[in-house]
Amino acid sequence: MVNGAVFAGFLGPSHPTPLQLQKQLRFASFSNRNSNNVNSLRVASSASIAALELADIDWDNLRFGLMPTDYMYIMRCSQGEAFSKGQLQRFGNIELSPSAAVLNYGQGLFEGLKAYRKHDGNISLFRPEENGVRLRMGAERMCMPAPTVEQFVEAVKETVLANERWIPPPGKGSLYIRPLLMGSGAVLGLAPAPEYTFLIYVSPVGNYFKEGLAPINLIVETEMHRATPGGTGGVKTIGNYAAVLQAQSAARAKGFSDVLYLDSIDKKYLEEVSSCNIFVVKGNEISTPAIKGTILPGITRKSILDVARSQGFEVAERQVTVNELLEADEVFCTGTAVVVSPVGSITYLNKRVTYGSDGVGRVSQLLYSALTSLQMGLTEDKMGWIVELK
Ligand code: COI
Repeated sequence: MVNGAVFAGFLGPSHPTPLQLQKQLRFASFSNRNSNNVNSLRVASSASIAALELADIDWDNLRFGLMPTDYMYIMRCSQGEAFSKGQLQRFGNIELSPSAAVLNYGQGLFEGLKAYRKHDGNISLFRPEENGVRLRMGAERMCMPAPTVEQFVEAVKETVLANERWIPPPGKGSLYIRPLLMGSGAVLGLAPAPEYTFLIYVSPVGNYFKEGLAPINLIVETEMHRATPGGTGGVKTIGNYAAVLQAQSAARAKGFSDVLYLDSIDKKYLEEVSSCNIFVVKGNEISTPAIKGTILPGITRKSILDVARSQGFEVAERQVTVNELLEADEVFCTGTAVVVSPVGSITYLNKRVTYGSDGVGRVSQLLYSALTSLQMGLTEDKMGWIVELK
């Protein structure tokens, strides 16, 4: 039963309870399963707008982990065709051929973005069209058809509204949105799949690292590499993430938060952390490795560069050496999941360098506050980055 936080003033007596809403949505979704699903989408969206009771979960202790929600979005198309119409359906397992290209050959991409509940009750998305553009770039590299940016953003909006009761109250976290694009058709010989699935699911999340907002401790990996020139490091393909698990597990077993990778040729230039981009601060300069095919073009990375510029910092996208890292004033990571995460220490070849006196550095704090205030609607969006949902 749901009895969680309620946004007082919005909930009228005629509004459905979440249980009623779930039944209504389930009926709408399943009754339209084999027909035109526009109706089910409309019911889901307008009904969810009316439901303002939040899910009955512990909003004060959200972690970055999957919490199954009510609905997911699915759209399919055949090779050589374009995605045309998708539908919301109950969140749950999906069926794939054992021979699906995504399972056998890793033909898959994912995205990550967040929805925020604002103090005025509105819901906002942060630069969703950027994710749509990036998905299309990745799809080209992985030989997959992709939704248009408009289709992508519409699908994200519908999924978020259908799961509205899972969006954390302001300041407690966000709704993480995970779009997937995969070769779902069966293949045996190595070839692009004959059929593709675009899927979006969501989960309420809190801080990514167990450290919360406290500085994280990174180890520089000197043997394994995340990406190579000409490879797929610059796109968000699923294989890039499986490839870092071994080094990450070893690092975690030694007490580190995560791994920082170096380039695979000279082994002295910074690349990125397993799940986020890296920045170094020296004086008034903020530098991050330039995008050159091996580095994921993070949307938070790009946004932080603009925010830093607007705050009067000198910003550089260039090669950054591991020596510069060790001599930096401050180091921080950026990503959708991690937001802006300060780095407290770096360990490189058994040498540990610490930054600041275990507090969050001034620049990291300033950029974190500037970005999150914008994302949460606490400051004016002069950049035009926020998409309001209601
Ligand atoms: C994100 O920041 O959204 C990512 O894609 C990283 C993921 C490994 C959680």
